[in-house]
Formats: sequence, structure tokens, C-alpha cells
Amino acid sequence: MPFDPQRELHFCLEDGTPLCVRSIRPADRDFIAEAFRRLSPESRYFRFWTRVRELNPHLVDQICAPDQKDHVGWVAVHQTRDDIPGVGGGSFWRLKEDPQAAEISFTVADEFQGHGVGTLLLAVLWEHALSLGITRFVGHVLHENITMRAWWDALGATEQEAPRHWLTTLILDESLLQDNHAGNSLRARLATIRDWMNEEISLKD
Ligand SMILES: CC(C)(COP(=O)(O)OP(=O)(O)OC[C@H]1O[C@@H](n2cnc3c(N)ncnc32)[C@H](O)[C@@H]1OP(=O)(O)O)[C@@H](O)C(=O)NCCC(=O)NCCS
Repeated sequence: MPFDPQRELHFCLEDGTPLCVRSIRPADRDFIAEAFRRLSPESRYFRFWTRVRELNPHLVDQICAPDQKDHVGWVAVHQTRDDIPGVGGGSFWRLKEDPQAAEISFTVADEFQGHGVGTLLLAVLWEHALSLGITRFVGHVLHENITMRAWWDALGATEQEAPRHWLTTLILDESLLQDNHAGNSLRARLATIRDWMNEEISLKD
């Protein structure tokens, strides 16, 4: 399946917000640190399991240096608002002990949550993962993170309980997506990404 991680993808959310989705790069360091500072304590805790206001600089460096093979990272930026340091981001790390699986995580800025950004990022990461031979995403989701759990449950993910969190597993097979709003939104985003990637390939031919 053709997938070009260098490609910048342009999307509009249902409310018209124009977004560019592209690979994370080392130059994004400052804006990622700033986006973290602006997160609500709850979002910060759900994603990083800590309430501290400053993200560890080594972690920021790691997040901003994906090799786009075993560590993949994408960011969604607003196309017209320079004052917003990033609308959302998503990454996955391939599991050493199980190379067909990767651990995934997302963060969407609080004011943009519930507008489809998470779905968009998941679709991009899904396509990127398939192009790398990854067939399963696993996520570590805190017990209290009801939004993430409800969303993944609606997509058809399974959960295994651990002391502080749930280990959720989503199989990257579109036919297994549930037939509901969450599943249909993801299917639609996957279709758009595939169309664009195919277009890009034929332009290059
Ligand atoms: C989890 C998260 C990434 C989802 O991103 P998002 O942009 O809000 O997701 P979407 O808008 O694409 O919505 C996905 C689903 O979640 C639901 N949802 C999103 N925010 C919600 C909220 N606050 N309350 C209830 N449902 C919500 C949506 O309704 C949607 O389901 P639907 O398609 O059936 O309507 C985002 O809420 C977030 O960053 N949370 C804080 C950090 C975090 O929890 N990260 C995940 C840890 S791995």
C-alpha cells in the first residue's frame, strides 16, 4: 500500500477548521513543549500520567525525533492560526518483543477535543502502521480516561485490566470496525488518506 510519510495532508474538520497533518520533526520541539504547557491538568494526566506543567526535555526530544519506521509521529497544526502551537499529535512505538504491534498515544488540545482530530490522527497513524507491517495498536489507558476508553470500545478494541490502567488493543482491519459513528468516521478518514496517497503516487509517475 503506498504511503508517503513526507506528504503533508490538508483536512477540514466538520466545523470548517483547516488543518495540516504532517510528520513531527525536531524543529517542532518548542511548539510541542508549549502545547503541553497549555493542556488542562486532566488531559496532561491522561496522556502522560503526570500533572507536572513542564514536559521532561528528553521526552520532548524523543517525541520530536521519530524515525518514521519503529517510532512514528504526526502532528496536526492549524493552517491559519499561528497563535495555536499545535492542535494535536499522535505517535506510536513498535514493540520490540512483538514487531507487528505498536504502542500508540494521542493528545488533542482541549479546545479542539470532540471535533474529530483524534479520529484524523488515528487514521493517519493506522495507514502509516500498515505500510510498516504493523497490524495492531495497543494503548495504555488510565482507568479514569472514560473518553478514550469509550471511543476505542466503539471502534471495536478489546481491553485487558491492569492495576492502574487498561491495556486496549485495536486490530488494524477495517472490516472489524464497528458500524457506528466512531467506526464510520474512521473509515471515511482512511478512505480520504488512501485517495490522496494514490493521487500523489500517480502524479509522481
Ligand atoms: C482521547 C483524545 C485523543 C480523543 O481526541 P478527540 O479529538 O477528542 O477525538 P474525536 O473528536 O475524533 O472523537 C473520538 C470519539 O470520542 C468522543 N469524544 C471526544 N471527546 C469527548 C468527550 N469530551 N466526551 C465524550 N466523548 C468524547 C467523540 O464523540 C468521538 O466518538 P464518535 O465518533 O462516536 O462521536 C482526546 O480527548 C485527548 O487528547 N484526551 C487527553 C489525552 C488522552 O487521553 N490521550 C489518550 C491517552 S493514550
